[in-house]
Amino acid sequence: MSLKEQIESLGKEAVELIKKAENLSSLSALRVEYLGKKGKLKNILKTLGKLPPEERKEIGQLANRVKEEIETVLKEKEGELKAKALEEELRKNRIDITLPSGWIEAGSSHPVISTLIEISETFISMGFSVAEGPEVEEEKYNFDMLNIPPDHPARDMQDTFFVNKDGFVLRTHTSPVQIRAMLTRKPPIAVIAPGRVYRKDADPTHSPMFHQIEGLMVDENVTFKDLKGILKIFLESVFGKDVKIRFRPSYFPFTEPSAEVDIGCTVCGGSGCRVCKGTGWLEILGCGMVDPNVFEAVGIDPEKYTGFAFGLGVERIAMLRYRINDIRLLFENDMRFNHQFKGIR
Ligand code: PHE
Repeated sequence: MSLKEQIESLGKEAVELIKKAENLSSLSALRVEYLGKKGKLKNILKTLGKLPPEERKEIGQLANRVKEEIETVLKEKEGELKAKALEEELRKNRIDITLPSGWIEAGSSHPVISTLIEISETFISMGFSVAEGPEVEEEKYNFDMLNIPPDHPARDMQDTFFVNKDGFVLRTHTSPVQIRAMLTRKPPIAVIAPGRVYRKDADPTHSPMFHQIEGLMVDENVTFKDLKGILKIFLESVFGKDVKIRFRPSYFPFTEPSAEVDIGCTVCGGSGCRVCKGTGWLEILGCGMVDPNVFEAVGIDPEKYTGFAFGLGVERIAMLRYRINDIRLLFENDMRFNHQFKGIR
């Protein structure tokens, strides 16, 4: 066989074998066998140097053509085999997306949060906006500027959680947000401040952490009548149009005059039961007209402006609303309890 014939038949042989290759590894073996450094084509071309220059050129060109042809076929086959391998892979690892998944438990609103949101929305609809303050609060905001002197019993170690940084406490009420609002805004002010508060207290009706919503309105000519009107709208929206409301004189250092607001017992309707301790009334919130000393502390002129403030406990209202008799149930996160509130907003 002439050199030319040898090359041509090698080319044919290679192309045939390549077309029959069944997988990528036998393909790469063929590549090495025919085109590799020590491959068959190189081997044949070893004798090229012995040829006369004319023939050498012709054979060289032929060898190049054959090499290119083999490469083309290799490429084609490689593409084909890769596609087949991918196909195979997809078939083997097929995921049936129509299979039903495992059970995923949907969460639900917490009764305290849903009550807090509903109350907030009532006030927002009356034009109040939401103000915030930190839970680790400066003592001067939590006490001093609210006209609570250093020897006031509310500061007692038994009530307040002190933190190990001088001058800071876990806020015992949302009233410090009143101070923050008056320091950063100018009258007219109408804000509510919902949030967590902390007191060293734990029994069926007290939790060391609970939620309050503070309200504050400051403007010229704000009167106790405005306070009563706003609270009436709020109480009727939460407890219904027929709710009975009673204002009782009380005392808070930061309001003067001060009052506590009771509603007719929602459990017995006023005849007396365990929930209202036989009185027919339930204490719902504290309120009053902003004390001039508080205005002085924040630099608002008490001759020009008046204001009212109120603070209510969210858990208390949630408990009445959902007939929950132990506040601890709200924080134990027992799913048998929490799941009973599925579907509330
Ligand atoms: N901060 C008072 C409390 O926690 C409630 C209150 C707020 C009373 C605003 C009057 C005015 O008991």
